[in-house]
Amino acid sequence: MEPKIQPGRPWLGAVITLAITVALLAALMLWRPSALYLWLKALHVIAVIAWMAGMLYLPRLFVYHCEAEPGSKQSETFKVMERRLLRAIINPAMVAAWVVGLWLAWDAGLFRNGWMHAKFALVLAMSAVHGMFVRYVRDFAADRNQRSQRFYRIINEVPTLLMIAIVILVVVKPF
Ligand code: HEM
Repeated sequence: MEPKIQPGRPWLGAVITLAITVALLAALMLWRPSALYLWLKALHVIAVIAWMAGMLYLPRLFVYHCEAEPGSKQSETFKVMERRLLRAIINPAMVAAWVVGLWLAWDAGLFRNGWMHAKFALVLAMSAVHGMFVRYVRDFAADRNQRSQRFYRIINEVPTLLMIAIVILVVVKPF
């Protein structure tokens, strides 16, 4: 059976996740477990893992998609995989990581720390790469991708490098 590209609302997944994240935050604040900060840090790390899993896998799909003839069954299957990965995992996970991460930074008064400034800059860069990926998904969906497989192989490494630097900054806190 041919995969179907359904018309949809690209923001819906992100809005639902934002609502769930805010509801979870509110529930945790009402409950006020003694280790509230650690609970939220766990939630943040879970969201970050989901976001990164998608950010590392999506450019691999672009690399393979370049080999598929536009209009072929294989190309249409890649379109569905890219769209679902973006909407069901990557977008909502990014929203959750940002909301909870900002709360952690505010609660612990971390906005004054040098490592936090550096992490913030790199997370903004990660979010910009995320935005570029959204554009690539749209270009593939409209069969108008002009970028080469080599381009996607190179761009594939950017989220990995950013992720390594961010994790070192937040765990080692070198400055
Ligand atoms: C989206 C914006 C983000 C904000 C505002 C943010 C902020 C924070 C804050 C304030 C903490 C708590 C630090 C502490 O208690 O010492 C934290 C923990 C953490 N963050 Fe983020 N973060 C963000 C995204 C990310 C990303 C993209 C990654 C990984 C690629 C990441 C990885 C981690 C890890 C591993 C921890 C736990 C560190 C530890 O407990 O030792 N964060 N984050």
